[in-house]
Amino acid sequence: MENNRPSWTSRLTFILAAVGSAVGLGNIWRFPYIMGQNGGAVFLLVYLLLILTICFIPLFAELAMGKITKKECIGAYESVNPKFKFLGFLNPITGILISSFYFIVGGWIINYIINSFSNQAVSNYGDYFSSFIQNPLLSCSYTILFLFVCIFFSARGVKKGIEFANNVLMPLFAVILVGLIIFSLNLPNAKLGLEYMFKPDFTKINAQMFLAALGQALFTLSIGMGALLTYGSYISDDKSITKSTYTIIFSDTLFALMAGIMIFPAIFSFGLEPSSGAGLVFVTLPHIFSQIPHGNIVSLAFFVLLLAAAVTSGISIIEVPIASIIERCKISRTKACVILFFIISVLAIPAALSFGLLSEFTIYKKTIFDFLDFATSSILMPINALFLCIITGWFLKIRGENFIQNKFMAYLFNIGLKYIVPLIMISLLYIGLK
Ligand code: PFF
Repeated sequence: MENNRPSWTSRLTFILAAVGSAVGLGNIWRFPYIMGQNGGAVFLLVYLLLILTICFIPLFAELAMGKITKKECIGAYESVNPKFKFLGFLNPITGILISSFYFIVGGWIINYIINSFSNQAVSNYGDYFSSFIQNPLLSCSYTILFLFVCIFFSARGVKKGIEFANNVLMPLFAVILVGLIIFSLNLPNAKLGLEYMFKPDFTKINAQMFLAALGQALFTLSIGMGALLTYGSYISDDKSITKSTYTIIFSDTLFALMAGIMIFPAIFSFGLEPSSGAGLVFVTLPHIFSQIPHGNIVSLAFFVLLLAAAVTSGISIIEVPIASIIERCKISRTKACVILFFIISVLAIPAALSFGLLSEFTIYKKTIFDFLDFATSSILMPINALFLCIITGWFLKIRGENFIQNKFMAYLFNIGLKYIVPLIMISLLYIGLK
């Protein structure tokens, strides 16, 4: 079995796939809305601080654990010590739970692509979005369609499926984002949006905001769910992962900042509410497109590229449970994909209905969709990342001097992995959930 494991054809394809995993709906859809709900600039400050000071440590550790053990998550933890097997299980479980809301948002994109074809005038984009997500048939069928697309690429295998989608589309996406940023910055009142994003109001700091920033940082970098571990396990030994770590962090942060600079000026210009929640981008963007000449063509291009970004991330999310099912149950990739398709559908449908038919059903005062989003990014991913640091720092004994040339930096990495990052994660979980 071990010899049949897929592997990346080159270092570049690995980096592209890892960046493809990181850059997705987390940057364009989740980042603006979480920032809007958590005080704007001050959230951005904490988020950037966390990314630059601590997140690169678990990111590197996760890739390294995959590369060293050459196993999917459960096997990787088990190979360090059989007692840690249950920690491995938490990763595919988190992946399945993330899928059950991530794929719903993927479905929203499909709806907006289809809509870009019709020249139908919409008088209120907020009402349009609400009535769409409340429509059980539409939202469930688009969710399943998006899931099907990701499963289809995965079923074709790591090389053919995952490498395929990443090459040309991401740079194109960056180009269209730059165009939209220029447009947005020229809207009336754009300055208010920039101030909201870059001028911190320290009275807005609170404990939950720190955990939200950590959750967003982990979510957007794909840390703490085993996706990078699984991708790392397909790297052959001669390929270094240090550069990949920096590339992932740099490109992901760039895409998130671009999304913010595109969205916030428009939000303020059109008099929308930054804290309005998960629909923020899907209400703001059509406003922008409605004002651009040939807006429906721009809208079509934007949503198709966003779909590509979402698919490359979606593929990496399902790769975690797929790799675990294949190696645990010793079945083919196709069979594993079919099984997973049914599991995720069963979970995603109630979450998709939580905007309409099941909106009254709440868990800890949150709808099913919001609860899944919160429970995974603010609880499960930090917990998984915490265990990852403890296991790789104390038991697998990953050491900075093996890959960082500067001795002082290597030393900082070692104490970061063993002490500082775990302590910060425990503190943020404690104060955020208290
Ligand atoms: N990082 C992805 C995004 O920003 O859309 C989402 C994601 C992918 C989360 C893979 C977790 C993961 F393991």
